[in-house]
Amino acid sequence: MKQEQLIVRQGQLDDLPELQKLFVDTVTTICNADYDQQQIEVWTSGIDNKQRWEDIVTKQFSLVAQQDNKIVGFATLDNGNYIDLFYVHKDHQRQGIAGKLYADIETEARRLKQTTLTSDVSKTARLFFESNGFKILTEQIVSKKGIDLINYKMTKTLGCPNI
Ligand SMILES: CC(C)(COP(=O)(O)OP(=O)(O)OC[C@H]1O[C@@H](n2cnc3c(N)ncnc32)[C@H](O)[C@@H]1OP(=O)(O)O)[C@@H](O)C(=O)NCCC(=O)NCCS
Repeated sequence: MKQEQLIVRQGQLDDLPELQKLFVDTVTTICNADYDQQQIEVWTSGIDNKQRWEDIVTKQFSLVAQQDNKIVGFATLDNGNYIDLFYVHKDHQRQGIAGKLYADIETEARRLKQTTLTSDVSKTARLFFESNGFKILTEQIVSKKGIDLINYKMTKTLGCPNI
C-alpha cells in the first residue's frame, strides 16, 4: 500500500486522546532505555493533569505530524521560545518526523523574533536536540512525586538564518 505523505498541522482539542496515547506508548517503549520503571510511571502519570494537556493545544503553538490519518508525532512551543512537549510515535522513530516538526517550530520562533530556544530535554532526546544545534546548559535532577529524573536544560541561539 502506498504511504501517504506526512502532513504537519496545528493541534486541536480533539487530538488529545491520541496525543496522550502516543506520549504514554513512546515514553514506555522508547525512553525505558534511559529511565527505570518508577521514573517512567511518574513521567507518564503526567496525562492525569487534564488542564495542562488542554493548555498545550489551546495556549501553546502545537504541531501534529499526521500520516495515513494517524498521528505520528507532535511538538509544542510555549511562549514562542520554550519547546515543551516533543514526542514521535514508537513505531515511527528515525524517519525524520521530529526533524520536520522541529523545522516548523524554529520557523515559528523566528517569525516571533525570538533569539533563543530552550527546552528541558530527556536523556533519550538529547542527541536529537544536539543534532539540531542545541547545547547543554546544565544537567538537572527533576523531582516528581518523590522520584528523581535526570534531564538537560538545553538552548540554541537563533542567529540570522542567512549567515
Ligand atoms: C527524540 C525524538 C523526538 C526524535 O524523533 P525522530 O523522529 O526519531 O527523530 P528524527 O528521525 O527526525 O532524527 C533526526 C536526527 O536526530 C538524531 N537522532 C534522533 N534520534 C537519535 C537517537 N536515538 N540516537 C542518535 N541520534 C538521534 C540523528 O542525527 C537523526 O538523523 P539520522 O536518523 O539521519 O541519523 C524521538 O526519539 C522521541 O520521541 N523520543 C522519546 C520522547 C522524548 O524523550 N521526547 C523528548 C522529551 S524532552
